[in-house]
Amino acid sequence: MQRSHWKNRWTFILATAGSAIGLGNIWKLPYMIGVNGGSAFVLVFIACIFFVGIPLMMTEILLGRRAQKNPFNGMQQLAQEADASHLWKYLGGMGMLTGLLILGFYSVVGGWVLAYIVKAATGSFSQISASQSSTNFDALLASPLILLGWHTLFMCMTMGVVARGVNSGLEKANNILIPALFAILLVLLGYSMSVGDMQAAYTFMFTPDFSKITPVAVLSALGHAFFSLSLGMGAVMVYGSYLQRNVSIARTTIYIALADTMLGLLVGLAIYSLVFANQLAPNAGPGLIFQTLPIAFGQMPGGNFIGMLFFMLVAFAAWTSAISLVEPMVAWIVENTQIKRATSCLGIGVAVWLLGVAVVLSFNEWKDIKIVFNLNIFDTLDKLTSTILLPLGGLLMAIFAGYAMNKNHVQDELNLNRHWFTLWRVTNNLIAPIAIFGVFLYLFGVIQ
Ligand code: PFF
Repeated sequence: MQRSHWKNRWTFILATAGSAIGLGNIWKLPYMIGVNGGSAFVLVFIACIFFVGIPLMMTEILLGRRAQKNPFNGMQQLAQEADASHLWKYLGGMGMLTGLLILGFYSVVGGWVLAYIVKAATGSFSQISASQSSTNFDALLASPLILLGWHTLFMCMTMGVVARGVNSGLEKANNILIPALFAILLVLLGYSMSVGDMQAAYTFMFTPDFSKITPVAVLSALGHAFFSLSLGMGAVMVYGSYLQRNVSIARTTIYIALADTMLGLLVGLAIYSLVFANQLAPNAGPGLIFQTLPIAFGQMPGGNFIGMLFFMLVAFAAWTSAISLVEPMVAWIVENTQIKRATSCLGIGVAVWLLGVAVVLSFNEWKDIKIVFNLNIFDTLDKLTSTILLPLGGLLMAIFAGYAMNKNHVQDELNLNRHWFTLWRVTNNLIAPIAIFGVFLYLFGVIQ
């Protein structure tokens, strides 16, 4: 069967940037910065992107492009080519399942975002007090049916795009949504510069205070670098499998990583400048954009309109990432069975929707059900995927490309000069695995 390919390298860059730029950048990163004391976290995060994220993104793209298959069959074929154990194919399988686990909670949060577009558009932020804003958000979380409705809509939007295939679905959606997202970002930045407190936001995010760099900050920064760049689960691999041979992997990776990191930091600046201009606290945790930010919008000129634009930006980001979370599994079904793409999307959509139902209930009816370490369903899925499964997937891919694959095959794909190739090898074979391994040792209490 003829496989689809991206039209050109820009569509690949847009699609992969679309996967990378998501709730991680706009919802998670700003609150993680707040909770971990600001600048220290930002600096460690940037270091993680450069020394671990970029090399591993190159690795994942090269694996996909060489195999030209979905992650499961792709790893199987690469292992065969390298004379390595056939068990490597389960690394691809693990990634495909991880994507569905992430989408289970991602879609519910995507639903909150859709709900907030409507809230902003209908003027519900106007002059709200801090307590009203919290009550609004709590009321949303306490209503299973409303959450379910938004989660269902978000799943339909996601599966609707994936069902149309690589060129008419994924490519088209990203070609429209990502430029629109950056256009909204510009408006938002202009607005924050004119009415917000950019200086305070800048100081909070970029004044180095090394005493705040704790093991927990490093741990969450590394985990978040994976999540943010969509690494370790085969999304980038399957996107790489649709990439033409003549495109430079290193250059495209750098564009994608820069777009992802810059967007996260610029949105952070915009959010904090509005938060500080209204004397609100920066460390609100997960409620930052849903509780704190609406208070700021409600007190500012044109705040409802800008609030609506802001939540549209978040929705576009979430949508283009969600697409990439299911594509590996869909590609696997389409490439191994007679089932049509649209039908497999329906099946996967229903399965993930059901998982989302459990996540929805974990905010209300099943609030007291704890899975492990006193975490509810939502937190368990989030922690399990971003602190364990994605780094583990990334670690194993790095080991495979660095130690199992034939060096000439790797060089063939990367096509770098000697110095850059050595640099990639040092980061992929040593720095990234040691960093991830260190995180695991810390996580399991082996080192303190
Ligand atoms: N990178 C996305 C974000 O930052 O929100 C999340 C994500 C998408 C993670 C796709 C992993 C993935 F494969």
